[in-house]
Amino acid sequence: MDKRTAVVTGGIGGLGTAICIALARAGRRVVAADLGGHPERVARFQAEVDGLDVRFAPLDVSDFDACGEFVRGIETAGQGPDILVNAAGITRDTTLRKMDRGQWESVLSVNLDSVFNLCRHAIDGMTGRGFGRIVNISSVNGQTGQFGQTNYSAAKAGMHGFTMALAREVARKGVTVNSVSPGYCETALVAAIPDEIRQGIVDKVPVGRLGHPDEIARTVAFLSDDEAGYITGANIPVNGGLYMAF
Ligand code: CAA
Repeated sequence: MDKRTAVVTGGIGGLGTAICIALARAGRRVVAADLGGHPERVARFQAEVDGLDVRFAPLDVSDFDACGEFVRGIETAGQGPDILVNAAGITRDTTLRKMDRGQWESVLSVNLDSVFNLCRHAIDGMTGRGFGRIVNISSVNGQTGQFGQTNYSAAKAGMHGFTMALAREVARKGVTVNSVSPGYCETALVAAIPDEIRQGIVDKVPVGRLGHPDEIARTVAFLSDDEAGYITGANIPVNGGLYMAF
């Protein structure tokens, strides 16, 4: 069987980098799609993935047409994509009473519209080839809501609805669609939370610490395996016990 190709959006971010590394180590050809405007970030990423089958591709995931062109480029090279991990995400935290339209729209467009943009362009190829693994990186805050995150919580909760609906549409075609809901992990997003608030959150985590990006990446590698074909429409929480539900 040919090597499978995995696209990871937000691929050079905190969770994205760990996901790229885990998928490459699992034998995938990985394309890390992310904004190209910060050469020093890209260089740091390239150093981290040195020696692995991972390449960086500049992409604005909120641009529907650019996502189409990007997916067609991979298809034309005969490289799938077979696995799509939607990990691009931003925060613009503030209470609703202070939130402006730009803070709402940017979070919804990067976190949720991007999932539509990539899936819409990739889905026909996946169903046509009879294989696909889509993993949407949501958040515990999409399950519980978080103070100061009406925009982010709405986007992340929306990903769950999207995941379940698309899972039903493509289940007979060899394509699975799942979401992973990380808790608070050691990433720049979490580092940006004021120290006192972050400590208050960690104090509530039963495991007693922030998550490691590798712990999220391991779950993504599991769900995107060929052998994971009977798991679809699921949400896998990886949150140290911060939110437990059945
Ligand atoms: N619950 C209740 N009250 C809270 C609170 C909370 N969790 N957090 C703050 N408050 C209170 C403050 O004490 C303050 O009270 P006073 O007005 O009486 O002093 C008030 O709410 C602050 O209200 P503001 O209108 O001034 O709030 P703000 O617009 O300045 O926003 C904030 C504050 C930026 C949202 C800040 O609370 C914050 O950073 N919170 C953390 C949000 C968070 O957890 N983000 C997660 C980022 S990481 C991520 O998203 C990754 C992932 O998936 C897990």
